[in-house]
Amino acid sequence: MAHPDWFDQKRIILGVTGGIACYKACEIARQLGRLGATVQVVMTEAATAFVSPLTFQALTGHPVRTSLLDANAEAGMGHIELARWADLILIAPCTANTLATLASGRADDLLSTLWLASTAPKAVAPAMNQAMWADPTTTQHCQQIEAQGTWVLGPDAGVQACGDVGLGRMLEPDALIESLLTHIQSGPLDGRQILLTAGPTHEPIDPVRYLANRSSGKMGFALAAEAKRLGAVVELISGPVHLETPHGVRRTDVETAEQMHQAVLERIVAADIFIGAAAVSDMRPAQPARHKLKKQSDHLNHLELVENPDIVQSVASHPHRPQLVVGFAAETDDVERHARSKLTHKALDCIIANDVSGGQVFGRDITAVSIIDAHTTQHFSTTTKEDAAKAILAHLSVLLSQGPSHGTAI
Ligand SMILES: Cc1cc2nc3c(=O)[nH]c(=O)nc-3n(C[C@H](O)[C@H](O)[C@H](O)COP(=O)(O)O)c2cc1C
Repeated sequence: MAHPDWFDQKRIILGVTGGIACYKACEIARQLGRLGATVQVVMTEAATAFVSPLTFQALTGHPVRTSLLDANAEAGMGHIELARWADLILIAPCTANTLATLASGRADDLLSTLWLASTAPKAVAPAMNQAMWADPTTTQHCQQIEAQGTWVLGPDAGVQACGDVGLGRMLEPDALIESLLTHIQSGPLDGRQILLTAGPTHEPIDPVRYLANRSSGKMGFALAAEAKRLGAVVELISGPVHLETPHGVRRTDVETAEQMHQAVLERIVAADIFIGAAAVSDMRPAQPARHKLKKQSDHLNHLELVENPDIVQSVASHPHRPQLVVGFAAETDDVERHARSKLTHKALDCIIANDVSGGQVFGRDITAVSIIDAHTTQHFSTTTKEDAAKAILAHLSVLLSQGPSHGTAI
């Protein structure tokens, strides 16, 4: 069973169809939003007779979509884009009529069209009178969509709005969300909080110039994407890079090492794992000039530098130290020996060593890494950064499951 944090940053289409249980969908929309999901409500025409779209708009903060043939809506996010956007489609309540539509593969309104056009996981929460639910046609429709991979949540038994007693009531919102989580595959980092830094830092010399390095941020971003895929809640603190935020990852942009340090400290309490993948500048100009330096400036001959904070080390020695603290070591010679010495010296749980001699690795899509912890070293020569991220996070998942055992700095 997946953890409720699974919903964090997820994009969910909540389909609402014309049944008396529509009022329960309001609470579902609210709860999913509270769990961190972005909820886009799509209502059938019949559903709008039960609850106003305005109610869902107020609860989700997004205008409700009701029509397939709406030129204005299509000018924004078209129905196919919306289908691709979704991480999950949940129809709750789902009427007997909509079950029949889904089973037949018809696409005669927005919701059924999205359903057909989306490859996201799909779930329905049937809600209807007990005789409608017991009807063999409804049973057949339900079995048909279930066989295609749809999760059927409920229904529940009890007294119905029409006075009948029996199976057909929609699950209550709490039970529905719990039932949904039982179907969602949990990853090894399910519900774990991962705090990551990536990219270079820019240390200002004057308003137009800065000290930087060749880091592209690709390794850190690959790690963030993979951690999210494995179920983690991912906070990414990024230096200046030209990369898209991986889907579902929360990103904060910073420029300097000091800003990155501050952003990390603000988020450290919640983290289970910290990965310092950023290439943080070791030093910064002591006194950045307030105006652009002129050619004749003394600074051209003499640029005074001061040391930047060592972010990974400060996390490893923090009172709210995450269970795992992971550093990167970009070395140009005797890579493993230097990396292992940093591992011990900074009291890290794991260090990822890169051979960056000759500028290789920086900005490229391939890398060569060694994953080093207190007991083991694994070498991966010439691999994509995505595959390196998979290997690193698989290793960290195992270390995390072993519980706290981090070393002491010497
Ligand atoms: C007051 C009222 C309550 C209804 N409740 C349900 C219901 O709980 N479940 C259901 O399957 N149909 C129910 N219906 C019938 C549906 O509204 C009808 O089949 C409609 O065509 C469904 O359209 P939709 O599936 O496109 O939303 C109800 C109708 C009315 C008038």
